[in-house]
Amino acid sequence: MTDTLKPALELRHVARSFSEGARRLDVFLDASITVEPGEIVALVGQSGSGKSSLLHIAGLLEAPTSGEVFVAGQNCTALDDTSRTRVRRIGIGFVYQFHHLLPEFSALENVMMPQLIAGANKASAQRRARELLERFGLAARLEHRPAELSGGEQQRVAISRALANRPLLLLADEPTGNLDPKTSDQVHAEFLRVIAEEGVGALVATHNIELARRMTRLVRLENGKLLPE
Ligand SMILES: Nc1ncnc2c1ncn2[C@@H]1O[C@H](COP(=O)(O)OP(=O)(O)OP(=O)(O)O)[C@@H](O)[C@H]1O
Ligand SMILES: [Mg+2]
Repeated sequence: MTDTLKPALELRHVARSFSEGARRLDVFLDASITVEPGEIVALVGQSGSGKSSLLHIAGLLEAPTSGEVFVAGQNCTALDDTSRTRVRRIGIGFVYQFHHLLPEFSALENVMMPQLIAGANKASAQRRARELLERFGLAARLEHRPAELSGGEQQRVAISRALANRPLLLLADEPTGNLDPKTSDQVHAEFLRVIAEEGVGALVATHNIELARRMTRLVRLENGKLLPE
């Protein structure tokens, strides 16, 4: 996906509610946001305010109760499973709090995998994976499996994997939330540098207000609304 003229992400009046029997929980009711290519937007809010739910909707992993979701200018709200998977595969990168790397594969293979699934040939997938991992200072760790990497190194691999297919949109859910403060700071700084170099639009949920302030801008989920700061 290379349409850099369109917003990376646009959520229009998105609501998410959960119904259990007679009870209904409205997590948010009217959330709208636009993330342009090259922007890194911090998403903050108390625990339970709906940050992960919002990222899952933006990442086309869950459907909103109402409202519309545009990725790279394409309305994805009513796409069928096949098309949605395709947009997710090439247009969106996702980084989780816990890396979710494949334990049997090396760092290099973990970053190659999404590219091979998207149809890249092995040589170009390897070149791109190596280049990303080197930018995260992992040139000497390419053949290590996740269990042979530190927590910070695992997160760097997970971020590289999310960027592997050159997505237009990067979504991250507390990407450094599982690391000690010093490592979190380091990985976060590298993360911001590399996503800025890639020109990707990013929405990053974090509890860390200090890290949030280093991003382009900050939005807050509060009482079911998404507010700019
Ligand atoms: N499948 C579900 N069924 C019912 N309620 C749910 C479901 N998933 C999430 N919720 C509720 O939605 C609310 C928002 O959850 P979410 O995980 O998005 O919060 P969050 O802001 O990411 O919190 P944290 O900072 O702790 O990660 C919570 O109150 C949660 O209990
Ligand atoms: Mg969460």
